[in-house]
Amino acid sequence: QSSVLHKFKGVIFSTMSSEELLNSLDSFEAREDDVFLVSYPKSGTHWIAKVIENIPNARITLTPPIELGDISKFEELKMYCERRVIPTHLSYSMLPMNIIYIIRNPKDIAVSFYHYYRDNPNLPSIETWHEFFELFLKGDVVYGSWFDHVLSWEEHKNAKNILIISYEEMKKDPSKNIKKIATFLGLNMTDSEINQIVWKTSFTEMKNNTAKENCDPNHTICALTSNRNLVFRKGAVGDWINYFTSKQKRVFDELFTEKMKHSELAKHFGD
Ligand code: PPS
Repeated sequence: QSSVLHKFKGVIFSTMSSEELLNSLDSFEAREDDVFLVSYPKSGTHWIAKVIENIPNARITLTPPIELGDISKFEELKMYCERRVIPTHLSYSMLPMNIIYIIRNPKDIAVSFYHYYRDNPNLPSIETWHEFFELFLKGDVVYGSWFDHVLSWEEHKNAKNILIISYEEMKKDPSKNIKKIATFLGLNMTDSEINQIVWKTSFTEMKNNTAKENCDPNHTICALTSNRNLVFRKGAVGDWINYFTSKQKRVFDELFTEKMKHSELAKHFGD
């Protein structure tokens, strides 16, 4: 285990997510109209955040992630006058609010996370995909086990204050899902406004815009890095097939069936 990481409530966090901050979540002053944008890492947070930022007349501020910084962060959050959308990778027990929860096929997350670990100097160095696969299976990665994260949201999936968005459904039908997000936020959009957002938030557009000067490469909503260039890799569904050996697929599927057999959330993505 790298010394830049620490465990809190049994889950690994990076130094950027200070224990003091996480411990003090109780003192966070929530507002009725706050919305948390929640996911296990690599599920598509930046994508959905961009959708929300582009909804016209929404009067919304996308804040930095709640677990980044120290407790003075709560003071900083108080200064936003507009409605706050707060991205985070924390689990249900830590957050009691209006929530958009993003879910993605864990096999694709594992591959995305592997690349992120390799490219991110704040995370322990990983030599091989095989090595990362074992850590991911055990949940020995930042934010812990994907299974535990998703299962912590399972029993709340039908709650009125939670909207579940899946990466795969978003890929298949972005307009429909963008509309769902706007409706959840209580906002109306015309079809042409929705089409604009579909275009602006396509993977190519977001990746290219980040590379351009007008988009600050050091602005990320992920608590694990300040470098936005690390976020946009391939943006595809099913890339796992290029990494998983048939044995890894079998091992993963067995664990998936065992842990997720009663999960409705797990039905949001195909194989
Ligand atoms: S982080 O660092 O945990 O906040 O990362 P997060 O933003 O949740 O997820 C990163 C993955 O999302 C992909 N991505 C997109 N896919 C499709 N369309 C758009 N617009 C888009 N934007 C980001 C990004 O490429 C990462 O997935 P991989 O599989 O690595 O490409």
